[in-house]
Amino acid sequence: MINLHNQKKDLLTDSTNNTLNNLETILVIDDSPTNLQVLHATLENAGYEVIVEMDGNSGIEQVKNNPPDLILLDVMMPGIDGFETCRRLQANPSTQEIPIIFITALSDSVEKVKGLSLGAVDYITKPFNQKEVLARIKLHLKLRQLNLELDEQKQQLEQRVKERTAELSQALEELKKAQLQLVQSEKISFLGQLVTGVAHEVNNPVGFIYTNLYYASNYIQDLISLVKLYQKKFPTPGYEIEDNIKAMDLDHVLQDLPKVISSMKLGTERIQGIMQSLRNFSRVDGEQKKSVDIHEGLETSLMILQHRLKALPKRPSINVIKEYGNLPKIKCYPVQLNQVFMNLLSNAIDAIEEPIKDIDTFSTASRIGLIRICTTIDKQQVTIQIYDNGIGISESLQSQIFQPFFTTKPEGKGSGLGLSISNQIITEKHGGTLQCISSVGNGTEFVIKIPLNS
Ligand SMILES: Nc1ncnc2c1ncn2[C@@H]1O[C@H](COP(=O)(O)OP(=O)(O)O)[C@@H](O)[C@H]1O
Ligand SMILES: [Mg+2]
Repeated sequence: MINLHNQKKDLLTDSTNNTLNNLETILVIDDSPTNLQVLHATLENAGYEVIVEMDGNSGIEQVKNNPPDLILLDVMMPGIDGFETCRRLQANPSTQEIPIIFITALSDSVEKVKGLSLGAVDYITKPFNQKEVLARIKLHLKLRQLNLELDEQKQQLEQRVKERTAELSQALEELKKAQLQLVQSEKISFLGQLVTGVAHEVNNPVGFIYTNLYYASNYIQDLISLVKLYQKKFPTPGYEIEDNIKAMDLDHVLQDLPKVISSMKLGTERIQGIMQSLRNFSRVDGEQKKSVDIHEGLETSLMILQHRLKALPKRPSINVIKEYGNLPKIKCYPVQLNQVFMNLLSNAIDAIEEPIKDIDTFSTASRIGLIRICTTIDKQQVTIQIYDNGIGISESLQSQIFQPFFTTKPEGKGSGLGLSISNQIITEKHGGTLQCISSVGNGTEFVIKIPLNS
């Protein structure tokens, strides 16, 4: 490489004037020292930084190491000629954007056309007309500058679009989640209020009945003793009373009445129990975890769904098999966990009621529905498996079932929220996992795993 302007360059780089530091660089590739001298002088006087090379290969090397803003390229050179040099520069993506201006003889229009067709942006003719050379160079540098700016703006724009798109999809995700959470907490608090209200209203009259049953039972005992006393004192009360005693089957009444009372007591106690477990089931939780017996939640869920497990004209009753492990109290958000149990169990019942294709309706109708609930614990986690022998889920559906609003059920029946809410409760609230194991015709098992130290 011959650098004809070293001295001047040093002077310029030392300068504090910024515009001088940002000189545009022009590489001249020409084997003729005369041409080089003329062009060098002209360009440097016009304020450009000029580098020169005397053959194609060193020119290409120079471009790679020190890319100029523009290249002036002679056609006739020893070694690879200008056309080949141009072709190679154009073939390389990192050098292809640098504008190339050919240097040709004034008369040679074949060369001019060939140069342009190879990707050159322009040509200048020998002998050089200084003004014309400078005008063309200036124009192409300007064009290149504009192109670079355009490229940069395009990239910035693309980057911005990318960022905005990412932001928007992130926002959409968050919105969906927030919506789910809203629906979920709305549902829970509504259910909680409803149950508290109903339990309160039911508890009063039930308490009323329960207390009065106590007195009723005492009074009845007294009356029975009295009747027995009468019978003892007056063994022959006369035909009118004797007929009556026979007609009403007094012996049976005396025997049965205490049983009637005690079963009424049992009934009211059961109502009170149900009300209490409903209250526990749906009490509005605080933000803190509680230690609870999760079997209680499972039992209450089954109790609430009891009416759906019973036999229907279209199918026999659904069997529930419980394989409960010996679990200690588990720290969790009990109401939310109960919501998961309800979602999974009601999905299981839906799946059992769904007719299985390719099996005739008769065998579907007589197929015995089965739900198996299994709980186990190890050092790290509690596992709750809920299996049903219903319709099953195909592999392609399995990837979608946890998405919000995904449902295969008719409108009005399914909201498509049960599994996505359940998944959120298990994974995000409890740091656990909710897994689905299923295939069509073989039933479905959902496996909840909750870490103990979460
Ligand atoms: N136990 C199951 N057996 C078969 N399919 C199920 C089961 N549980 C869920 N699915 C499928 O997953 C879908 C989404 O369930 P879910 O989120 O609870 O919404 P929904 O019950 O309102 O449809 C259901 O529509 C159903 O196709
Ligand atoms: Mg559901």
